[in-house]
Amino acid sequence: MELPKRKFKTSVQLQFASYFAVLTIVLLALLNTYPLRASRDVVFSEKENALMNRASVVSSSLSLLDQMTADNTRQVMGLLDVNDLNRVLVTDNTGAAIYDTVENGEIPKEISGALEGKAVFTSKFDMDAFASGAAVPVRSGGKTIGAVYISEYDTEQASIIVGIQHRLSTISISIALLALVIIFFALRMMTRRITQLADGVRTVQSGDYSFRLKLSGNDELTELGSELNYLTERLETTEAQRRRFVSDASHELKTPLASIRLLSDSIVQDTEMDSATMREFVTDIGTEAERLQRTTEKLLNLSRRDDGIQGDLQRVDLKAAVEGTHRLLAPLAEASRVTIRSELNENCFVRATEDDIYHIVFNLVENAIKYNLATGTVDVKVFREGERCVLTVEDTGIGIPEADMPNIFTRFYRVDKARSREHGGSGLGLSIVHDAVELYGGTVKVESVEPHGSKFTVSFPADDA
Ligand SMILES: Nc1ncnc2c1ncn2[C@@H]1O[C@H](COP(=O)(O)OP(=O)(O)OP(=O)(O)O)[C@@H](O)[C@H]1O
Ligand SMILES: [Mg+2]
Repeated sequence: MELPKRKFKTSVQLQFASYFAVLTIVLLALLNTYPLRASRDVVFSEKENALMNRASVVSSSLSLLDQMTADNTRQVMGLLDVNDLNRVLVTDNTGAAIYDTVENGEIPKEISGALEGKAVFTSKFDMDAFASGAAVPVRSGGKTIGAVYISEYDTEQASIIVGIQHRLSTISISIALLALVIIFFALRMMTRRITQLADGVRTVQSGDYSFRLKLSGNDELTELGSELNYLTERLETTEAQRRRFVSDASHELKTPLASIRLLSDSIVQDTEMDSATMREFVTDIGTEAERLQRTTEKLLNLSRRDDGIQGDLQRVDLKAAVEGTHRLLAPLAEASRVTIRSELNENCFVRATEDDIYHIVFNLVENAIKYNLATGTVDVKVFREGERCVLTVEDTGIGIPEADMPNIFTRFYRVDKARSREHGGSGLGLSIVHDAVELYGGTVKVESVEPHGSKFTVSFPADDA
């Protein structure tokens, strides 16, 4: 299956760019609106206070008049400091203008509110100026005799606010540009690393298991890269093992098959072969076929084990398992003039399949007989060591050279091919022991015994249930 080539790159970039853009837009919108609104509101409330106060001053000055006329109102106004105001309008209680600093000016709607006895304030900000107006009633003798309206057009405060707004816009544009540059470089760096990872996966997928990513940094992507390297290393080892196994297995099967072929050809071609020779040849064919059968059985055993535990787990008694194999191997021991001695303790139970325990014990004891010297001995012991059950198989045989010890559990490995072959060995017995022991949480080790000989120690977690 092919990985979609680089398609993800754009989408990751797009996703991140859009998150970042949304975040920047929200922040900039807040930066542009909130301070502006707040300062505008401050100006509004300041203006309300100031204008209302001044309107009240005008209103109270006028309320001292018995009756408001154009003349006396003008006189009162002359005494008040109202020249800075944009407009000063005084109406009678019908809303008709008595005094107005704006010629033919319209009567603002605030007046009607003031004539109803309310103090009315309005303010508007239109970027150029704050246009504010305040209207209050003029009361005399408990009656509303008119209304005062004053208005102001302030460009100074407005220009301060507009200045703030301009400065904020400049800051926002700078922030946006900076954010753009940062996101561009950050995304480029990130996508470059993701692309490297994806290229790595593709290279490994194409079968190049020697590929390793060069790692730098200390983040999740580095972790992912190191996981990929670990996976590739595992694949490389597995692949190498697989190749070696196939080549070893075919080689192992090829030799007996070639012998069978040679022997059968000789029988067919030699029409005058005497019956004794023919019997000898046929016996040899049988021996080779038996070797083939044993090898294929062991290969099957190993390949089945690769798939996990096969069969039912039971409480297997190590003592009984050893006694059973002794009976089977007694003829071989007798033929090799090897004595088997055993010291088997009770109460050594292991949770495993009977078959696997049998294979472990059989292969170890068989080796101890096969690689022994005539009149040698094999000591088999089963005992408890705390929470573990231990099986030791010790022989007085030819021993294993130190250099070969790390390899003897490898499939098809034989120290002395010729000697092993003599016994029909294929170099698979100890791999079966090793794999089976590991499957049940056990360990197996080998050591030399002086003057010569070997000792295999297998230890399992005890099953005391
Ligand atoms: N007790 C032992 N003493 C000396 N050498 C041993 C002993 N056990 C194993 N070896 C060496 O380790 C090699 C691997 O053993 P293993 O049991 O895997 O294979 P094998 O006996 O040759 O063949 P198979 O067990 O498949 O019939 C043997 O070929 C032998 O050289
Ligand atoms: Mg063996």
